[in-house]
Amino acid sequence: MDLRLGICFFLQIFLVSEVIANNGGGKVFHVKHKFAGKERSLSAFKAHDILRHQRILPSTSPSSSSPPSSASSTVDLPLGGTGSPVGTGLYFTKIGIGSPSKDYYVQVDTGSDIFWVNCIQCSRCPRKSGLGIELKLYDPDASTTSKLLTCEDVFCRSAQSEPIVGCTPDALCEYNALYGDGSSSYGYYVKDFVKFDRVAGNYVTASANTSAIFGCGAKQSGDLGSAMDALDGLLGFGQSNKSIISQLASSGKVKRMFAHCLDGINGGGIFAIGQVVQPKVNTTPIVPNQQHYNVNLKSVEVGKVMLQLPTDVFETGDRKGTIIDSGTTLAYLPEVVYNPLIKKIKSHVSDSKVKTVEGQFTCFPYSESVDDGFPNVTFHFENSLQLVVHPHEYLFSYNDDLWCIGFQNGALQSRDARDTTLLGDLVLSNKLVLYDLENQVIGWTEYNCSSSIKMQDARSGMVHLVGSHNISLATSLYVGKLLILLLLTSILQTLIY
Ligand SMILES: *[C@@H]1O[C@H](CO)[C@@H](O)[C@H](O)[C@H]1NC(C)=O
Ligand SMILES: *[C@@H]1O[C@H](CO)[C@@H](O)[C@H](O)[C@H]1NC(C)=O
Ligand SMILES: *[C@@H]1O[C@H](CO)[C@@H](O)[C@H](O)[C@H]1NC(C)=O
Ligand SMILES: *[C@@H]1O[C@H](CO)[C@@H](O)[C@H](O)[C@H]1NC(C)=O
Ligand SMILES: *[C@@H]1O[C@H](CO)[C@@H](O)[C@H](O)[C@H]1NC(C)=O
Repeated sequence: MDLRLGICFFLQIFLVSEVIANNGGGKVFHVKHKFAGKERSLSAFKAHDILRHQRILPSTSPSSSSPPSSASSTVDLPLGGTGSPVGTGLYFTKIGIGSPSKDYYVQVDTGSDIFWVNCIQCSRCPRKSGLGIELKLYDPDASTTSKLLTCEDVFCRSAQSEPIVGCTPDALCEYNALYGDGSSSYGYYVKDFVKFDRVAGNYVTASANTSAIFGCGAKQSGDLGSAMDALDGLLGFGQSNKSIISQLASSGKVKRMFAHCLDGINGGGIFAIGQVVQPKVNTTPIVPNQQHYNVNLKSVEVGKVMLQLPTDVFETGDRKGTIIDSGTTLAYLPEVVYNPLIKKIKSHVSDSKVKTVEGQFTCFPYSESVDDGFPNVTFHFENSLQLVVHPHEYLFSYNDDLWCIGFQNGALQSRDARDTTLLGDLVLSNKLVLYDLENQVIGWTEYNCSSSIKMQDARSGMVHLVGSHNISLATSLYVGKLLILLLLTSILQTLIY
């Protein structure tokens, strides 16, 4: 298999890297830089995560309670995005907006709340995308059903944590979203029809619509303003009642439940709103009153040995706790967990072979199958839920001859994120991950994300198969050249009001 892997990040300067792997004897990774002369560092893997974490913790405004939902149906969001052995960074879906409806490609993000698309007046929006999609700008004037929200609107007032200064009846309702990778989106809210695929049978969908409030992006910066990984917008799946899942639920269209299966092997996967009945998933409670999807991690097992850890290391609290975040690329552990974990993993290779790459990645050469030579790492959660991470998932291939450990030391993070456990795509890919906000639980099970799941329609009681998707965007520009995995884009959003 010829694997191409691109990494993109924004850190003062925008660098794009392309890693090409050839299988023929050993794995060969060539690293190519967009800007000649600028050395890409492996640290780029973490650049996005680090910036994200600097923002992840200070913002702990509790989520609002959800309105009760009654009738509901199942929604199938076709997923695109390229998988890799390392995990995944950018998954997107296609959604129709306006009357007449036009399709927009938006990133799906469980780590933020707002849904926004680039708008017609945008002064700083990407016009071309390296992903091979033709970017569109939403024009409220071109849609017969659009309505601009003013700052006096109820949604606007509840969306702002502080009273709006200088609110006049004709002032637009503004949003300003900052994401963990340093990018941001600024604009105003509009209300319009959003079209999506309702599940109507086995692998069959029917078009449905709802009126929803979303951001009309007037200015994007950071990664969001750049062309390489540009999409039309972002679809936030956070818990706040501004998110699209909450809006759909409060209109009785769906239950506050969704699931994703991010296919780290073939790309794409499954993203569905509604109740999953197959596979069966064990769950653990979502810690209440947290902005993110926090869960209670209890212990960590390496092979068959439990790590001896301080009892309070996984407690949820100020700047502490365990966050399930599909927008984080790798996985970050407090140092007191990281050190013994790495020691155990490293004990399977001779000390003299282990080297530190770029000051922070623990790497070593290994020519046999890593799954045979290294232990599984099992995270144990409240309610006996386990998360098993296999060696081929936590080890990623680097250069032509090295394997590097994907788990990262929280001590190298910002002070705020140091004691937090952040479980990202490194450990979440290739699993069906279920977010049940109705019952405030989250769960997962190992799953083949190229297969299908069974969803039950709460209205009709019918059970239907929902298959995986792989939206392909590649154009001639990138075919055979860049099938990009954007490891370092997105996600977490902190609102600044
Ligand atoms: C969100 O929650 C707040 C407070 O709980 C409420 O006032 C507001 O109406 C809700 N907004 C939506 C869009 O449901
Ligand atoms: C929304 O759906 C309804 C019923 O399915 C349909 O009559 C209407 O034309 C749709 N509206 C838009 C804007 O797509
Ligand atoms: C790791 O877990 C898998 C199943 O998830 C199992 O088949 C395998 O034997 C385990 N590996 C070790 C070394 O125990
Ligand atoms: C995953 O499911 C797909 C579709 O059913 C199938 O073709 C593929 O072989 C499965 N992969 C594995 C590893 O079982
Ligand atoms: C999914 O799409 C990606 C890129 O568009 C492609 O690289 C990959 O081979 C596709 N996977 C399958 C199973 O078709």
